[in-house]
Amino acid sequence: MEIEFDEFNKVFFETLDGHESVSISADGTYYTILYDNEKAGVVGYIPAKFPEHAGFVQIVIAPKFRGKGIVGTAENMLMQKHNLKILFATIKKDNPASIRAHEKIGFTILDNEELGELRRKGFLKSDEIRMEKIWI
Ligand SMILES: CC(C)(COP(=O)(O)OP(=O)(O)OC[C@H]1O[C@@H](n2cnc3c(N)ncnc32)[C@H](O)[C@@H]1OP(=O)(O)O)[C@@H](O)C(=O)NCCC(=O)NCCS
Repeated sequence: MEIEFDEFNKVFFETLDGHESVSISADGTYYTILYDNEKAGVVGYIPAKFPEHAGFVQIVIAPKFRGKGIVGTAENMLMQKHNLKILFATIKKDNPASIRAHEKIGFTILDNEELGELRRKGFLKSDEIRMEKIWI
């Protein structure tokens, strides 16, 4: 299998089942994911204000292409292309597929103290968790 990035296409993005859980931001950089030349999903990130080389990742995979581990490959490509060292993911608690997909590729859930602090500061909703992966 070959995974490549193509230009982001809003029309294709909006056809993707589950795209509502990803909000496209003007500050973000997004790509269409090609799997053997077929449009298979969208991945992108919004740069974090702090620290440097960190971003909030966003991903949606078309149902037909789910379960193939594309999340890991696409997010690694994104990190390399943009020289990112840390990726954060904000995920709804009731989205086990996304939590599992990120756990599988080395993301960890922040501990309860950190989650509590983010919620108190208004950076995280009560029905969300924050995961992170640090590349060293
Ligand atoms: C989240 C999403 C990107 C995952 O894509 P994917 O291609 O299925 O991801 P992967 O194949 O790498 O891994 C998915 C894992 O979740 C598991 N899974 C899928 N549905 C599940 C469910 N309902 N409950 C528990 N685990 C589930 C799969 O079995 C797989 O784990 P495994 O390899 O150990 O079996 C995809 O489901 C999607 O696009 N969802 C809609 C948009 C979305 O929620 N984006 C994330 C916003 S944070």
